[in-house]
Amino acid sequence: MPRPKVLITHSLFEPARKALDEKCDTEYWTAATHIPRAELLMRVADKDALICLLTEKVDEELLSKAPRLRIAATVSVGYDNLDISACTHHKVAATNTPGVLDDTTADTAWMIMMAAARRLSEAETWLRSGTWPGWDLDQLCGADIWGKTLGIVGFGRIGREMARRAKGFRMRTLYHDAARVGSEIESKLAAEFVSFDRILFESDFITLHVPLTAQTHHLFGTKTFAQMKPTAYVVNTSRGPVVDEAALLEAIKSGKIAGAALDVFEFEPKVSPELLALKNVVVTPHIGSASLETRTKMALVAADNVIALFEGRRPPTLINPEVLAGQTATSS
Ligand code: DGY
Repeated sequence: MPRPKVLITHSLFEPARKALDEKCDTEYWTAATHIPRAELLMRVADKDALICLLTEKVDEELLSKAPRLRIAATVSVGYDNLDISACTHHKVAATNTPGVLDDTTADTAWMIMMAAARRLSEAETWLRSGTWPGWDLDQLCGADIWGKTLGIVGFGRIGREMARRAKGFRMRTLYHDAARVGSEIESKLAAEFVSFDRILFESDFITLHVPLTAQTHHLFGTKTFAQMKPTAYVVNTSRGPVVDEAALLEAIKSGKIAGAALDVFEFEPKVSPELLALKNVVVTPHIGSASLETRTKMALVAADNVIALFEGRRPPTLINPEVLAGQTATSS
């Protein structure tokens, strides 16, 4: 059987590269900048598999130009970059990388939440500027996290990791999701299922862990912010468009909420200069899963999905299993 031809839109960490190179004919995009769309469309045309990043769209246009393509593997847990129904229509398996980045992403959310509450960016900027006059009683007083109420929107793996951390900080944890989890999980994580409105009214910190879908687009907007406490913070490590950035800016500037901690932005990589100018907003450049250990694992999961398909196994993190019904994977 000929080796499958795989396009990888970024150089991968060594263990993933090794695994792929052993079994496939690989072509990597290694330039420092992301692969331009035209280049992606051209290079994918004769490939059996694509390993891509969340910045690359796998849509009808791409799929119709890649007649041999059998699998599109995104190196991310969020897969809003993959048009799943188009993939299924073209009989292309779609995979993501769940399960390996939960702790690292929850750590990031926790880190920026604390940074916002305790005014870390502001404090560090002051110190580095060389103008700090020394300790004073009412200087840089932020808000405590411990003992407060954490509202978790989206109670999947990462949301649950937030609840686990909240226990250590003696926080009260509320969560909201489309479905309630079992009582065993709730009591283990000391998390209470409440309505979306109660999350808004009662939380001191609201952290978002939902995928980006038509339903979650602008889930947080003018109306939502108006229902939050004026002392509350919103934390977003999910996807930028879950928050209406203009509405967030207005809510913070008018004091409807106290501030925000953002790792993702509505128009990435563009970030509103007005948002950047606000002292009570902590920003990081989409580093939720960015530890070397975790990113290496994510690359390995993507590689393993591709290898599995061409070895006739079910890709471990397949999103659209219907594409495999009654099929065995072979490269032509
Ligand atoms: C993901 O995996 O979806 C993150 O946004 C990047 O880690």
